[in-house]
Amino acid sequence: SDRLRVERRTEDSVTLSWSSGRHQVRVWHFPFRLELLCDDEVMVTFNSKSKLWFEKLPKIFSWQRNDYSGLQKYINILYKITFSPSSGPSSIGADLCLHGFNHVYGLPEHADSLQLRDTRDGEPYRLYNLDVFAYGVYSRFGLYGSVPLLLAHKPDRTLGVFWLNASETFVNLRYSPADGQVQFKRCLQPETDVHWLSESGVIDCMVLLGPSPQQLFSQYAQLTGYQAMPPLFALGYHQCRWNYNDEADVKAVDAGFDDHNIPYDVIWLDIEHTHEKRYFTWDPVCFPEPARLQQYLGYKKRKLVVISDPHFKTDPDWSLYREARDGGHFVKNREGDLFKGLCWPGESCYLDFSSPATREWYSRCFGLDKYKGSTPLLFVWNDMNEPSVFHGPEKTMPKDAVHYGGWEHRELHNLYGFYQHMATAEGLIMRSGGKERPFVLARSFFAGSQRFGAVWTGDNVATWEYLKISIPMLLSLNVTGIMFCGADVGGFFWDPDPELLVRWYQAGALQPFFRGHCAKLSKRREPWLFGEEVTAAIRSVIQERYCLLPFWYTLFYQAHTSGVPPLRPLWVEFPREESTFAIDNQYMIGGALLACPVVERSVQEVKVLLPGDDECRCYNKVCVPVFQHTCVFFKSKVQTQSSLFCPQGAADGELYLDDGHSFNYRDKKAFCLRRFSMHSGRLRCRPASEDGTFDCDTVVQSVTILGVKSKASTATVHLSGESLLQRNTEVAEVHKLNTQVKVQVLA
Ligand code: NOJ
Repeated sequence: SDRLRVERRTEDSVTLSWSSGRHQVRVWHFPFRLELLCDDEVMVTFNSKSKLWFEKLPKIFSWQRNDYSGLQKYINILYKITFSPSSGPSSIGADLCLHGFNHVYGLPEHADSLQLRDTRDGEPYRLYNLDVFAYGVYSRFGLYGSVPLLLAHKPDRTLGVFWLNASETFVNLRYSPADGQVQFKRCLQPETDVHWLSESGVIDCMVLLGPSPQQLFSQYAQLTGYQAMPPLFALGYHQCRWNYNDEADVKAVDAGFDDHNIPYDVIWLDIEHTHEKRYFTWDPVCFPEPARLQQYLGYKKRKLVVISDPHFKTDPDWSLYREARDGGHFVKNREGDLFKGLCWPGESCYLDFSSPATREWYSRCFGLDKYKGSTPLLFVWNDMNEPSVFHGPEKTMPKDAVHYGGWEHRELHNLYGFYQHMATAEGLIMRSGGKERPFVLARSFFAGSQRFGAVWTGDNVATWEYLKISIPMLLSLNVTGIMFCGADVGGFFWDPDPELLVRWYQAGALQPFFRGHCAKLSKRREPWLFGEEVTAAIRSVIQERYCLLPFWYTLFYQAHTSGVPPLRPLWVEFPREESTFAIDNQYMIGGALLACPVVERSVQEVKVLLPGDDECRCYNKVCVPVFQHTCVFFKSKVQTQSSLFCPQGAADGELYLDDGHSFNYRDKKAFCLRRFSMHSGRLRCRPASEDGTFDCDTVVQSVTILGVKSKASTATVHLSGESLLQRNTEVAEVHKLNTQVKVQVLA
């Protein structure tokens, strides 16, 4: 029934439709245009400005035959000198007009606002994965990863345009009217022109029709994959620095968390843990007994993460290097020799992750028998995988380097890190016999990297403006599928003052991936080094994160199964409220919490827009305002910082539980998904999925209902239909079937 059928034919066009016929595609043959219609209204025009473009590969080989001349010869020679891809210059491009839209988002990774800007006044958005040292903020320059997905939103529709191309890409945007703040009620129909230009490949452009944001996320996930379900520990707090020097250092930091009663799950080792920057090895002096160290952490249910970069020290005495070289696993240069570049170990070769055989070989390197000193408690961090080549053009691999199948690097540049991430995640799955969920953090990414784990926003700086920009950066990642993401808490370069550090912890605790990290030259900044007041502030923030873990875990299950991101711009939850469309200092965590982290110095008051309100509200003496919109599940007591902004007195929420680490939720349906809904004064708890069964000792300890008008309200508790209690009280307690339920009704 979803087959295309011909609706109409004229001399100039043919109109096709599918299913109910509400949506149609009209193809005009001259000039060539493609219109997408809904209820006879044009939503999108492809090639509306006639910028469809295929640049043919110049006859570069004819240069050797000396049979071309003039300008083309000059361009080719110039191009060869500057970039020297062996097949010469090429490009492809196309434009689309999005009718009725004046807000577009997406295209990470840029240190810029959530809503994309009109590019007429400057540079286009560039998608080219690069290692950018202390990147500038409010810039359209490409950073470590790329997702060529653009989202457009208006009150009754969210659309997506996915340009599947992994070569260097530029996107120009033009809003009409130009200010981007059109009043929908008054003037002419707004529109946005989008122009894509890529260096090579084919035009593979998909329009996702929504119409709701949730439907759009699901359509995009069907195309590129769903967010991997992380192991539960990965949503806890991670402690990193470049570097924890040796085993004693790791143990001391680990003990510091216990001594100061601060929860944490993972401690990280940067490049210095290796034997002279050979990944998969350990410094024999500083880390003589790595497996023992992991067991030591394991007794406390903690994990270790180590770094594994894509460059290999060119060292013929190192067996892993020889294996990779002899197996043909390195990228070549255009002469057919090994490509050699500079990175941490000095001269290095780069693994060719685009080759399935290389990926398989690399995955096997994580085998517990092969990776000496590793245990199942060890997880992995892929860094420098744009790839970073210190003396390369723009600090990356030259475009004419040659990959598996003879492909030039320029064809797949933006996929390099994606493939390393894939092979690493696969390696961790393989080492467990397919049983355990992996955790891998990568710096570089592409559309679909969500299937392999987490990413972070790279080398930021310990200043307020980097804290501020981290919020739109993470929102852009979330709406383009890369949901498990975070920024280095505290800032990577330089040293935050205590106020900035505390504010950064407060913000980071409300973001999906929560890791403190800093550069080699930054001063020590473990949470207890700045006096009791700062320690207490950081402690309470991290503890609150742990209270909210069941909520985050449930959000990740939803992302994993439906494609809806945990971090949501306000317009995703309030799609008709135009006042929310440009907001990127506040956001929703799931549908339930609205967060507005403080990102400025000495702030005593913040203004928060509560959708549905006529005005912004002011909050004084702020910690971090978090507003609860609907049901949230806390692990234990959480400090009551949140307030409900749900005027209808109704609330819904889900709770997901499983063993937290294996694939049994998928393979054996060993999970539990409950739905809680509060309507007309009744809170009901029912299975949200008939599918799963999961035996656990988790009990409902207390139910807190906020915002009840009168203190004389009645609370009645039923268990499987039986009435257990009815009482006019503020706090009611029930003991039955080993279930202790405390009901609190707070007026
Ligand atoms: C660059 C990464 O972005 C940073 O996080 C890491 O500490 C250094 N490389 C050293 O590995």
